Amino acid sequence: MSNSGSACNGQPSQAPSLSSVPGHGQPLWLLAELTYKCPLQCPYCSNPLDFAEVGAELTTEQWLDVFRQGRELGAVQLGFSGGEPLVRQDLIELITGAHKMGYYTNLITSGVGLNEGKIAGLHEAGLDHIQVSFQAADPEVNNLLAGSEKAFKQKLKMAREVKAQGYPMVLNFVTHRHNIDRIDRIIELGVELEADYVELATCQYYGWAFDNIKQLLPTHEQLKRAERITNQYREQLAAAGNPIKLIFVTPDYYEERPKKCMNGWGQVFLTVTPDGTALPCHSARMLPIEFPNVIDMPLQKIWDESSGFNHFRGDSWMEEPCLSCDEKEKDFGGCHCQAYMLTGDMHNADPVCAKSEHHELILSARAMAETVAGNPADLLYRNERNSRIITTDRLLKF
Ligand code: FES
Repeated sequence: MSNSGSACNGQPSQAPSLSSVPGHGQPLWLLAELTYKCPLQCPYCSNPLDFAEVGAELTTEQWLDVFRQGRELGAVQLGFSGGEPLVRQDLIELITGAHKMGYYTNLITSGVGLNEGKIAGLHEAGLDHIQVSFQAADPEVNNLLAGSEKAFKQKLKMAREVKAQGYPMVLNFVTHRHNIDRIDRIIELGVELEADYVELATCQYYGWAFDNIKQLLPTHEQLKRAERITNQYREQLAAAGNPIKLIFVTPDYYEERPKKCMNGWGQVFLTVTPDGTALPCHSARMLPIEFPNVIDMPLQKIWDESSGFNHFRGDSWMEEPCLSCDEKEKDFGGCHCQAYMLTGDMHNADPVCAKSEHHELILSARAMAETVAGNPADLLYRNERNSRIITTDRLLKF
């Protein structure tokens, strides 16, 4: 269920610079994608398109062993994500184990499958933080995008219960052209539910979202209006003494410089997928790189020595315009997954960068957003059936 925007949530913000560190840092932030199973069908899910073909999930013991090894390597934050992590019957056991190891734990959930008793159980297990995702502030749009008629009601109930049981709560709204014009209502819902943080994360185009970009990318006007309204709410809420924090995430497609993706490849972030594949970012599975599996290799070896984790460390992989760019230590060349999806070559500079010879693709996407109608009926929903029939040709022409 997690979109790429939310996968960055809670990520430590200080990455070592290329020049100051010979090698790399520690995997401070471990993301455990426990399962790809999910009761919802969000068309912007960041899971891989072929998730239905992925092999058996790690067992309870294997996950606990990964967490143990992660702590030894210096990991401090552990995110439980998916799919929907609540689907795992051993979730309480996994959280209990992680808590005892000293992790700060975060559950990233749709809220579907949660109830009062389960929230109490999570609390007892030592869970520190819950992030509940919504698709919209209106039941119709929410349920349409979730592919479930009951989702909105359940989410509301669970968000209230999470707060009632004393959790710090992040509400995550992935925004796009079908809900961004209701940003005022979204913020008001966040206030009403007493969220500590409301992430207004404009959809990033990875996984299923990339295939649905024509239906989801907002226009520049929509985006600017949403940011303006968010800023107005920030001022009003602060003046009223409301401590709620509104986090607004702009999509890459409206930037001129790329983001420092994952705070640098193999610098602080380590994802383990349901079948044990270890990745430097949650989308890297699609890249033509062989990534190791925690069943075959100790985490320390994966982090320090595997070719997958070393592939984009340092700057020896860089070509122009990155190589001689005076911003290369700031953004490390941007997002390699995005370069791959858009140009077919992961070693290219992220086309988001105005210096990239492929930046035209980003400009074309913006132009496309101005002209398409973006009919929700054309959305490709994330479900097992679609996962099995999907094409592997990922290069889009706008
Ligand atoms: Fe993989 Fe950016 S999402 S490098």
